[in-house]
Amino acid sequence: MRELFRKKDLAKVIADAGDPHLAEGHAPDSGGLKRHLTAYHLVALGVGAIIGAGIFSLTGTAAADWAGPGIVYSFVLAGVLCAFAGLCYAELASMIPVAGSAYAYSYTTMGELIAWIIGWDLILEYTFGAVAVSIAWSGYVGSLIHGSLGIELPTWLVRLTHGPFDTVELSSGETVNGMVNLPAAFIALALAAVLYRGIRESAWINNLIVVLKVAIVLVFVALGVGVIQMTNLIADPTAVGPAALVPPAQTIENVTHYGWGIGGVLTGAGVVFFAYIGFDAVSTTAQEAKDPKRDLPIGILGSLLVCTLLYVLVALVLSGVVPYQDLGVADPIAVGIDRIVELRGWSPTAQKLFTTAIKLGAIAGLTSVVLVLLLAQSRVFYAMARDGLLPWFADTHPRFHTPHRATVVIGVTVAAAAAFMPIGLVAEMVSIGTLLAFVLVCLGVPILRRTNPDQPRPFKVKWPWFTGITGALTCVALMIGLPLETWLRMAVWLVIGFVVYFSYGKRHSVLAKEPAADKAD
Ligand code: ALA
Repeated sequence: MRELFRKKDLAKVIADAGDPHLAEGHAPDSGGLKRHLTAYHLVALGVGAIIGAGIFSLTGTAAADWAGPGIVYSFVLAGVLCAFAGLCYAELASMIPVAGSAYAYSYTTMGELIAWIIGWDLILEYTFGAVAVSIAWSGYVGSLIHGSLGIELPTWLVRLTHGPFDTVELSSGETVNGMVNLPAAFIALALAAVLYRGIRESAWINNLIVVLKVAIVLVFVALGVGVIQMTNLIADPTAVGPAALVPPAQTIENVTHYGWGIGGVLTGAGVVFFAYIGFDAVSTTAQEAKDPKRDLPIGILGSLLVCTLLYVLVALVLSGVVPYQDLGVADPIAVGIDRIVELRGWSPTAQKLFTTAIKLGAIAGLTSVVLVLLLAQSRVFYAMARDGLLPWFADTHPRFHTPHRATVVIGVTVAAAAAFMPIGLVAEMVSIGTLLAFVLVCLGVPILRRTNPDQPRPFKVKWPWFTGITGALTCVALMIGLPLETWLRMAVWLVIGFVVYFSYGKRHSVLAKEPAADKAD
């Protein structure tokens, strides 16, 4: 029993990851990975992973079904929640700069079994996240081809661009079932190929995409901010559905009168939480960062701050130009730009141009999310395999210095899942998995302050008990708001994880082979 709680020695973990200051370029002591990433790259990776399906798709549903014009508050709330987790990630990442991120932190704080659970759970965040966003990518490409470029695809091709659980309405009014989502599978494989090739190449492509998507978001805000209609920011008490619970008093001007609307805002925060997922992926690149102790906190907190500001602005403009009842669509930002052009009295050609640009920005945004989530997952598998808990993935490519086997297996798995699975089911699993990881990271901060008080902490959270416990509790609160079936599915996922651990990981654990391995101090 004690062996389940054996912990890795913190000093040894840090030493094993290598001292980045010894290494320019290829650092053999970073385990074969290359140290190429600067603070700028890390912030860009964070932004690359964060801005995606959440803002380009979920914002509309959250506003129409739950928060009404209070959607801005939902974004602020979700941002504050993520800030607690972000601060805790920043402290642990600068203190323990290794590729395994939350998995590695838990190995030193809570022992092997919890570390395994969190490593297994991170698959929900990163792999399932990549699956969900690949499917959303395919949806936006379809909308660009059909909606914006006006190209009508033949029925057989429509069926090859949707999964078997999707029902698609053709222009003739006839409905058909999808067969296989080939574009979703394609994007996952293409990005896995980029990651296979190298971290420098991947960061370069990510930077390019991030510049494009942030530019599109800023254009949306800049065009929309001047035509906000204050009446749209006041909820309509005659509306039907949960949005009707938002009382008219809940306006941007009058934030003190929440009334029943607070419930809608809270649920809305749970929905838009998905939009923030990804800042933690930065921490998995610790062994590829040039100066991880300084730059990881900058990457994690910097990307979170940039995205929170952008999200709040987008939410304000969107709910200010479109009545929230009209936002329950898959592409609310495209609806928003249509309305902005209309309010400005511009021509239909301008409308088409801007809508197409927004869709291109969304496609770019989704691309980098998939890229960084795949990157994060391969680094977590690499770390778990180096600890002996997983087979095959511990090697790096002799020339490209990437965890190539993990990258191939994850790329193929994500492609297969994206080709056949429904997006709704996958997205729920992503949120619950991420929240569980956040809970354990938040708890890790106060635990390590107690167990390893003297370990150098280049970035130190203020009031660690308050920050850690509050962060953990708010994540638990959001988890409680998720449907029972999601909890059950997570339980099934964890049971599968236990089977893998007890049949493989426990017996091959590198720590088990060390002399003081069963010391569970
Ligand atoms: N935050 C990422 C997105 O919204 C997962 O696509």
